[in-house]
Amino acid sequence: MENFTSYNPTKVVFGKGVVSKLGKEAVKYGDKALILIGKGSVKKNGILQAVENQLDTMGISHTLYEGIKSNPIYQDCDKAVAQAQEFGAEMIVAVGGGSVLDSAKAIAVGFYANHSVWDFYAAQAPRPASALPIISVLTLAATGSEMNCFTVIQNDELRTKGSYGNPLLYPKVSFLDPEYTYSVSPAYTAYGVVDLISHCLEAYFDTSNSPLSDYMVSDIIKLAIEYGRKAVAEPNNYDARANVMWLATMALNGSLDAGKRGGDWGVHGLEHSLSALYDVPHGAGLAIVYPAWLKFHKPQIAAKLDFLAQRVFGLDKNAEDFIQGLEAFFAEIGAPTRLSQVKVSQYQHAEIVTNFINTRANGQFFKLNEGVYQAILNLMA
Ligand code: NZQ
Ligand code: ZN
Repeated sequence: MENFTSYNPTKVVFGKGVVSKLGKEAVKYGDKALILIGKGSVKKNGILQAVENQLDTMGISHTLYEGIKSNPIYQDCDKAVAQAQEFGAEMIVAVGGGSVLDSAKAIAVGFYANHSVWDFYAAQAPRPASALPIISVLTLAATGSEMNCFTVIQNDELRTKGSYGNPLLYPKVSFLDPEYTYSVSPAYTAYGVVDLISHCLEAYFDTSNSPLSDYMVSDIIKLAIEYGRKAVAEPNNYDARANVMWLATMALNGSLDAGKRGGDWGVHGLEHSLSALYDVPHGAGLAIVYPAWLKFHKPQIAAKLDFLAQRVFGLDKNAEDFIQGLEAFFAEIGAPTRLSQVKVSQYQHAEIVTNFINTRANGQFFKLNEGVYQAILNLMA
């Protein structure tokens, strides 16, 4: 087991109707807020109104930045920084899924900088001394951004996604109301389940020995299959939505890193190319890359796969059963498992490999190179 520091300052308020407590939390951070939302789902389902009412009740004035896209781009963040500065915002209230939350984190550090937020992701900015406080209202269970300090932003000119992490970026408070996820489409519900399972696998394929982490990984995956299946079939099933939401948070809030060295993250690196090149939703891309990555590495990871197979699917199962079972589950809930299903043809393979090379997609423990890229890509086709 490796040495580790466990730190997570985010206050999580979970359950039905919890946004009724937002005003009292927000007022601790000032009386001017930038509200950040995506393309409008939170207007249709009334969540934005509920948040605005909370701020109004406490006399917190607010300005709205609308239009963060899925696979968010740095230009939107730069525009929102300008709006926040002009307004004199003292906090950001992010209402949405991972894309909105990640953008809020970019804006939070961008607010005090005199350069584009992209510089943080390109590792070209000095370490920031401050960030605006973030309050999040999560509307889609997937990324764990609501309880971690990471953010992922896309640069379309460079055809890449950049990741950035800083302890300043843990949300101060995150409101998780499972009912807010009832309106998420079956497809995005499925992608969220794939994402949370993938976060478990990234932690698991760290070669350090941390048994508690391994047992938590297998249990989270088992429960994600059970409740994910139910959430896709019955969108208004509270129990299913609540479990998927908490599983997604737990999958990437640092809990699984204890005793490990940070996870592998090679599959995420490969997936980010698919999102950057073809705007594939993150979870959809992972459903294509993970089975292929597991098939390619099977000889090296057979014992670890046996453990997962037995814990997730039953005592008589083995490595191959785990890969097949996982892939079948992804397909069952409606996630694509082949590139052709997201309209990427074999003629685009060269472009994808070039992007893998340019973005230096790699894992910490399972090293990837051009030959490996090609082999994994063939398994994705
Ligand atoms: O934009 P709106 O209209 O809100 O619609 C969104 C969007 O179209 C919709 N949606 C969200 N909540 C909804 C809803 N529709 C109906 N009802 C609701 N309650 O869902 C669509 C997808 O939203 P998005 O935020 O893009 O999805 P997700 O939460 O999966 O976030 C994906 C982003 O997170 C990054 C990914 O790379 C990707 O850019 N990640 C962030 C991580 C982190 N911060 O730790 C780690 C992850 O591995 C991941 O890389
Ligand atoms: Zn992910």
